[in-house]
Amino acid sequence: MASQKALISLHLFTFTLLCLAFTTLSQVPKNQTFRFINQGEFGDRIIEYDASYRVIRNDVYTFYTFPFRLCFYNTTPDAYIFAIRAGIPDDESLMRWVWDANRNDPVHENATLTFGQDGNFVLADADGHVVWQTNTANKGVTGIKLLPNGNLVLHDKNGKFIWQSFDHPTDTLLAGQSVKINGVNKLVSRTSDMIGSGGPYSIVLDHKGFTMFVNNSGQQLIYGGWPETDYGSIITFDVVPENDEATAYELVRPIGNGAQINLNKLNYNATYSFLRLDSDGNLKAFTYYDKVSYLKWEESFAFFSSYFVRECALPSKCGTYGLCDKRMCVACPSRKGLLGWSESCMPPKVPPCGKGDKVGYYKIVGVEHFLNPYLKDGEGPMKVAECRDKCNKDCKCLGFFYKEDSSKCLLAPMLGTLIKDQNTSVGYIKYGV
Ligand SMILES: *[C@@H]1O[C@H](CO)[C@@H](O)[C@H](O)[C@H]1NC(C)=O
Ligand SMILES: *[C@@H]1O[C@H](CO)[C@@H](O)[C@H](O)[C@H]1NC(C)=O
Ligand SMILES: *[C@@H]1O[C@H](CO)[C@@H](O)[C@H](O)[C@H]1NC(C)=O
Ligand SMILES: *[C@@H]1O[C@H](CO)[C@@H](O)[C@H](O)[C@H]1NC(C)=O
Ligand SMILES: *[C@@H]1O[C@H](CO)[C@@H](O)[C@H](O)[C@H]1NC(C)=O
Repeated sequence: MASQKALISLHLFTFTLLCLAFTTLSQVPKNQTFRFINQGEFGDRIIEYDASYRVIRNDVYTFYTFPFRLCFYNTTPDAYIFAIRAGIPDDESLMRWVWDANRNDPVHENATLTFGQDGNFVLADADGHVVWQTNTANKGVTGIKLLPNGNLVLHDKNGKFIWQSFDHPTDTLLAGQSVKINGVNKLVSRTSDMIGSGGPYSIVLDHKGFTMFVNNSGQQLIYGGWPETDYGSIITFDVVPENDEATAYELVRPIGNGAQINLNKLNYNATYSFLRLDSDGNLKAFTYYDKVSYLKWEESFAFFSSYFVRECALPSKCGTYGLCDKRMCVACPSRKGLLGWSESCMPPKVPPCGKGDKVGYYKIVGVEHFLNPYLKDGEGPMKVAECRDKCNKDCKCLGFFYKEDSSKCLLAPMLGTLIKDQNTSVGYIKYGV
């Protein structure tokens, strides 16, 4: 018995040794490692978010595969993001950022981007603090490449991807890129053009659908997307020629089992397209067509648009607050009635939670809330007094929306853009008295 045990452990030991020998064999050749320091000249062309940028290149690598390029960029002083750019300086149109490594954790001047012999790819701040890495040390990585589709990959000696930027989307999917339930299952918007960290809007894939949410102080409110259908565990943004003869391209969102939803049809080669959840919460596609001499980027799809879902249903359409009719912010509702809209339009102040203060409501005839279509107009049927009572008792309720024909009652925890609707849909906005 004892000798048998010994034999087994010896066996395991030999196996471990073999594995070690194997991994040490596959390394990044010394002359293909690099360390890039974030310093030096900025590019002088106009680029998305009004950013400054530095091209990442050295003697061995250009990191340029038309029309993609690796860069550092910053929108605020000394706060740099390692990113992939699409478009070239000669375009004389805006270049775009299609992938970010460290948007929630920018680095400073003199930060280093290192690709070591062990195959790990590491972004460290100037003080040495590691901000971002691929975690691919000793996993057989032998090289790094920026592919023609904009995917940055670390591969082994057989060309197999050990790590790829396509597995780590932030707010953007390039053509061919996916969100996955067993991986990154969502896109999260930037906070604003200026602030690149994660913002309030997300589009999330789960078995309930592919759904757009706005984060209202931790509460996720649905405002768009394709809810209520299980699309399986992966959704890929794709661009496919319509057929062999025609040059028409379709932006599609395959939804598993070979099925797809067509987003738009373009009569030109749309290979270089991306889908992005914008900082205002809209989901858009942009397409780069380099055969034209200028304005090479086109907005090729927008979820909230004249041809898809009504623009007034975008919660941020009228800023913090406003009444939207036929794509226009037409009024700032108030206790005094409908006033002219401007960006300073704000919902009324309500007493803080827990205070037994009195509240009142002002009435807006003919409005709907962005939640209405997704919450089946709320609860009910019930009387309007009952609906008001529910809102009174709920200090997160900022107003209620009552359908006079169906007697449905929807409580609103956020206001934003109110949508002009039939007169039988009435909004009651809470205020402190
Ligand atoms: C790196 O070194 C290998 C041999 O060790 C050589 O074949 C290869 O050409 C070199 N590559 C570069 C970019 O210098
Ligand atoms: C960056 O490093 C260089 C030396 O390579 C140094 O001269 C410079 O002052 C550093 N910049 C900052 C902002 O620390
Ligand atoms: C939602 O917003 C709150 C702050 O309002 C934040 O603490 C929380 O992390 C956010 N949640 C998500 C999922 O972004
Ligand atoms: C469309 O553009 C891509 C990228 O330039 C190219 O590889 C492809 O061959 C083009 N397709 C057609 C039908 O021209
Ligand atoms: C809705 O109310 C407005 C203002 O009172 C009125 O002008 C309009 O004709 C009404 N529309 C319908 C469909 O009743």
